[in-house]
Amino acid sequence: MNLEQTIKNTIIQKAKPIGFDEFMELALYSPVLGYYRSGSQKFGEQGDFITAPETSDLFGYTLARQCAQVMNGENDILEFGAGSGVLAAQILFELGRLGQLPNKYYILELSAELQHRQKQTLTKVLPELMDRVVWLDALPQHFLGVVIANEVLDAMPAKRLIKTQDDFVELGVDCKDDQLVWQPFGQAYVNDQMLLPNGVDIGYTTEVNARAMAWVDALSEVIDQGLVLLIDYGMGRDEYFHPQRGEGTLRCYYQHKASDDPFVHIGEQDITTSVNFSDIADQAINGGFTIAGYATQAMFLISLGIDEYLLNESDENKRITLAQQVKQLVLPAAMGESFKVLALTKNTQVKLKGFSEQDLTYKL
Ligand SMILES: C[S@@+](CC[C@H](N)C(=O)[O-])C[C@H]1O[C@@H](n2cnc3c(N)ncnc32)[C@H](O)[C@@H]1O
Repeated sequence: MNLEQTIKNTIIQKAKPIGFDEFMELALYSPVLGYYRSGSQKFGEQGDFITAPETSDLFGYTLARQCAQVMNGENDILEFGAGSGVLAAQILFELGRLGQLPNKYYILELSAELQHRQKQTLTKVLPELMDRVVWLDALPQHFLGVVIANEVLDAMPAKRLIKTQDDFVELGVDCKDDQLVWQPFGQAYVNDQMLLPNGVDIGYTTEVNARAMAWVDALSEVIDQGLVLLIDYGMGRDEYFHPQRGEGTLRCYYQHKASDDPFVHIGEQDITTSVNFSDIADQAINGGFTIAGYATQAMFLISLGIDEYLLNESDENKRITLAQQVKQLVLPAAMGESFKVLALTKNTQVKLKGFSEQDLTYKL
């Protein structure tokens, strides 16, 4: 049975709509057939989307500089959702060059298929460092070091909400005449750290990501000391709930084409929602973190000196190629402004270099 039919059967058996978060969980993470569990290409030009580390090695090298600032000989790195493994390879390569390798580079990846791909990438590029790389099934206890999640929060199943005459209700997924359809139902779930927009029109649709909030909570319990770098497309609450963003932030990616229809190409397309960084920051503060910086990806990379890699490249052809890649990472029309970096620290007092040119924490 294909994944679409399995989801329809789930709804029919329950005899009521399922939340969009449950639909997203099934579409992305069902064993074998879910988008992130299947063997499809996903990343890069042959896949459905290109992430920053897939765009350029300079992304990971520059991120490594931020890691190096807070690492000492005792620290580990923990990367969530490591995709094809290229970011891990870039960070380890650069930290090796800087003489600041972590004790261990942990990877927590939900997908066995991606774990396999990550192992292949790292074994090919950095065989001499494989003894430092450890794949985990659960959060480590008493973590000291740097946590990295690039484009992970946006892949966590989110709830959709729609404004009715009275209040927000959940916008779930039902099955009618054998078709998956949107269906408002129940009451909107929000926790203490979440706020919903006021005064918006009936029909205004948005997302809340309770799973991402729970993930921040879980992280706050296991980090004894260190830095968390969350990189994703998203914005602060005011912008997230702008009256003109009435259709929400749901986006699907299939072969580099974006759409807002999650009911097609089920199991073959990525489904994402933008990150509400204000919610994440509030939840983090509640869990004992300090907000150490919030900036656009462009300004974060520029603050850390991404341009120095270009200046230091003596081969002109390579320099031209790298310059094109850097443009992708920093130009506002590309990834530069839609992507943000939120830094959280615990029991660490350091002025992070990545926010020396810009800190938009006041916008959260
Ligand atoms: C869009 S991909 C990003 C991959 C990679 N970080 C990159 O930048 O190329 C999203 C990744 O997040 C992972 N993911 C989603 N939720 C997760 C969670 N709770 N814990 C760990 N990984 C998760 C998915 O399995 C997938 O590998």
